[in-house]
Amino acid sequence: MAGEERLICASAALVEGGRAVRFQVDYFGESAPAFVVRFGGRVHGYLNRCGHLPMELDWREGEVFDADGRHLICSTHGATYAADTGKCVGGPCGSSPLVSLRMEEREGRVVFKGIDDG
Ligand code: FES
Repeated sequence: MAGEERLICASAALVEGGRAVRFQVDYFGESAPAFVVRFGGRVHGYLNRCGHLPMELDWREGEVFDADGRHLICSTHGATYAADTGKCVGGPCGSSPLVSLRMEEREGRVVFKGIDDG
């Protein structure tokens, strides 16, 4: 799905394995919550929608990593996702990954480029 490029935050707002920056995206004509995190030195964005049930992941606003900052975790039933791919790696998400966003980091800024439909 094509999307309009949009500035989300400064690069400095995203700390490795730390708090997510939340924003809204248009997803099939509706406004949907999304977030971006830094992991492995790169930025990764996803719809904020668990693969188990359509719940937001955060246990507190922007808190989407597990205790050791290695995986993304859903606060509702503990589904766990790889932070760099959005693939389910544990819990009730089964074969349902997070929906990836195309994000880019350049010149100290984090930019949203659309939903990854591939
Ligand atoms: S809603 Fe996320 S694990 Fe159940």
